[in-house]
Amino acid sequence: MSAWCISRSFLGSTVSITEARRFVTTFLKGWPDVETAELIVSELATNAIRHSASGRFGGRFHVTIRAERRRVWIGVLDEGGPGRPQIFPEYPELEGGRGLRIVSEMATDWGVLGDHRGRTVWASLHEAPQPQRRDC
Ligand SMILES: Nc1ncnc2c1ncn2[C@@H]1O[C@H](COP(=O)(O)OP(=O)(O)OP(=O)(O)O)[C@@H](O)[C@H]1O
Ligand SMILES: [Mg+2]
Repeated sequence: MSAWCISRSFLGSTVSITEARRFVTTFLKGWPDVETAELIVSELATNAIRHSASGRFGGRFHVTIRAERRRVWIGVLDEGGPGRPQIFPEYPELEGGRGLRIVSEMATDWGVLGDHRGRTVWASLHEAPQPQRRDC
């Protein structure tokens, strides 16, 4: 499979979360970990709407998928704002603050690019190497 990349823009409204999930499942159909990718985009899109300027009237967020043979990169670009994505310490009594922790645990790697003008929160997933056939 040759590498490919696709991006799509979504209105910053909660109905777009379902659309972003569908975007990921459509284009990653057949990828072994598509459900994890779907969960990740759902968390990141929810955060973009809830915690950045993407959630304002007319705001948007952008989802990018980059796929290679054994690696998928998903980025959600938001419209920025004063707050920064951060993993909160684990307090079982707290209701929120779990999304990015879950993303960081499920992804092979994750990170944040950008600043108050717009941030991309990204996660990558690497398929475990397949056992190699060895002829004797
Ligand atoms: N795209 C973002 N822009 C700005 N701040 C963000 C963004 N994503 C997350 N954050 C900040 O990081 C914190 C942790 O995010 P996280 O997704 O872990 O928890 P949450 O969204 O508060 O709750 P939930 O458990 O429902 O996801 C958020 O409360 C918010 O302050
Ligand atoms: Mg969240």
